[in-house]
Amino acid sequence: MKGKFISLEGGEGSGKTTAIAFIEQWLETQNIPYLLTREPGGTPLAEEIRQLVLSPREEKVSDTAELLMMFAARAQHLAEKIQPALNNGIWVISDRFLDSSYVYQGHARGGDISMLDQLSRWVVGDNLPDATLLLDVPVEIGQQRVKARQYQDRLDKETLAFHQKVRDGFLKRADLEPDRVKVIDASATLPSVKTQIESHLVQLSHTWSGKQ
Ligand SMILES: Nc1ncnc2c1ncn2[C@@H]1O[C@H](COP(=O)(O)OP(=O)(O)OP(=O)(O)O)[C@@H](O)[C@H]1O
Ligand SMILES: [Mg+2]
Repeated sequence: MKGKFISLEGGEGSGKTTAIAFIEQWLETQNIPYLLTREPGGTPLAEEIRQLVLSPREEKVSDTAELLMMFAARAQHLAEKIQPALNNGIWVISDRFLDSSYVYQGHARGGDISMLDQLSRWVVGDNLPDATLLLDVPVEIGQQRVKARQYQDRLDKETLAFHQKVRDGFLKRADLEPDRVKVIDASATLPSVKTQIESHLVQLSHTWSGKQ
């Protein structure tokens, strides 16, 4: 039985890493084998591409170049890490996946959504997550959470208007694919966020009988 594939999405500081810690605890208590990973990245090559994409640099990065680097990393991540794990009955939890490309390179930067659809069909095909947990939080709260952090990468330095587009873009993804993309109210308290996430995990596990 194939493992379940879960992606975490949301803007900076929305609580994705925190959510993954909750998911990890739950999978441990359920004795479900799992793998934690992230995008862009997840394999040595894909992590090198992540460095290329996220490092601050003098040169302007063309939107098309950024988009293709993201999908190059994703192709490698799927082929070398995600698919082999799922085929071995291992659940895969990814910090960001396809929806981040739609939102950052598409909605927020005004990229061509039909181009994203083409790349998605080509690179991801049927390998969409079984569930995508969207950590949704007002931009101001997300930014307050990010400010507490030590460093900022290139994408963190965007304007508030950009972050608003990111939030709206993610909500649009949830509207388009409500069966896959589950909106979590991430402005709630941590115990509430944990409860919301666990209810989705329980639902996923109902259609999975691979437990050892
Ligand atoms: N529901 C919450 N209530 C209060 N604080 C929270 C909540 N969720 C997350 N935080 C805090 O906000 C900060 C950002 O959370 P986290 O690192 O999980 O976000 P993230 O989505 O992974 O961010 P990034 O995109 O930067 O990786 C952390 O300090 C975390 O402890
Ligand atoms: Mg994080």
